[in-house]
Amino acid sequence: MGDPSAHSCFTTTHVAPSAVSHALQSSTFNGYAPTSGLPQTRRAIAEYLSRDLPYNLSMDDVFITSGCTQAIDVALAMLARPGANILLPRPGFPIYELSASFRHIEVRYFDLLPEKGWMVDLDAVEALADQDTVAMVVINPGNPCGNVYSYQHLKEIAEAANRLKILVIADEVYGHLTFGSQPFVPMGVFGSTVPVLTLGSISKRWIVPGWRLGWFVTTDPCSTFKNHKVVERIKKYFDLLGGPATFIQAAVPQILEQADEVFFKKTLNILKQTSNTCYDTIKEIPCLSCPYKPEGSMAVMVKLNLSLLEDISDDIDFCFKLANEESVIVLPGIAVGLKDWIRFTFAVDPTSLEEALGRVKSFCKRHGKQFQRY
Ligand SMILES: Cc1ncc(COP(=O)(O)O)c(C=O)c1O
Repeated sequence: MGDPSAHSCFTTTHVAPSAVSHALQSSTFNGYAPTSGLPQTRRAIAEYLSRDLPYNLSMDDVFITSGCTQAIDVALAMLARPGANILLPRPGFPIYELSASFRHIEVRYFDLLPEKGWMVDLDAVEALADQDTVAMVVINPGNPCGNVYSYQHLKEIAEAANRLKILVIADEVYGHLTFGSQPFVPMGVFGSTVPVLTLGSISKRWIVPGWRLGWFVTTDPCSTFKNHKVVERIKKYFDLLGGPATFIQAAVPQILEQADEVFFKKTLNILKQTSNTCYDTIKEIPCLSCPYKPEGSMAVMVKLNLSLLEDISDDIDFCFKLANEESVIVLPGIAVGLKDWIRFTFAVDPTSLEEALGRVKSFCKRHGKQFQRY
């Protein structure tokens, strides 16, 4: 798990703990919240998301979840029916597959194309979908690839989903965490083309993953989800869920409204610096290559060239030996669907990151084939 809050350079804005403390000390939020979330919290999230949309969301579109993880599970629970299948990106975020397996939803993978900035292989999407396909998932900014999709590419995705009559689950947990040339465009911008379920949380942008505050939002100006039965079903399902602590919910309006631009900029500057360090050092290591310089999120995919390594059999072997010999933890690509790749997270203190990359370099040199060592 990439958890930036574990590193001292990534601390949340002063606005956030002060809002929580205020809510807590008011003693007004010790009781249960309505199961869909506090009305003021739902309204604040609707307003926050509407800033980047060509239409306004209402509080009725927003449901409060325990982090984006629970929003994913809600989305899949709502879509499950006998015989249903869902299209997931490869590489992707493993929670989707896990949740789908509990819901008996068949998973079909479409590739993200490394040589094209990890764009969605839309031909594969069209080939995979059938009458039982309920949705496709788009993670933008992307984990694990660090990709940020252009307006044009998102538009093409929306048009393809519309042709296939499937909805789009837009995982925007890394929304606004972009530091390259491509700005963040929410999928909801294309909500008139295709109904979108927008999932997010305050975990990443505000660096408080432990507060477990997320959202499940119907971003749907054509009111596809406004069908009474669908809304009632979503509401009923929320009656089953505990949701995040009421005082955390109560702090959200203040956190979202008092956007601390200096804080946001600081986080982005560090991520830009650490992603550059990662990318540049990887370029110096012969058995590793990185097809795309990350422009967002907190992770990057790196390809292993096993033919240049003496005694490493695959990505798992690489990661185990690296952990044993150098105490550096990277994720084997197989965990996110890509064998013989590895995932680095760069949401790490710059000094620790440099130290870690130095160790990766010496590890690769030590295990490199003879001709490469000298
Ligand atoms: C793509 C993606 N979606 C969802 C989540 C879960 O977010 P949360 O911590 O808010 O539950 C993560 C967490 O890393 C993620 O990377």
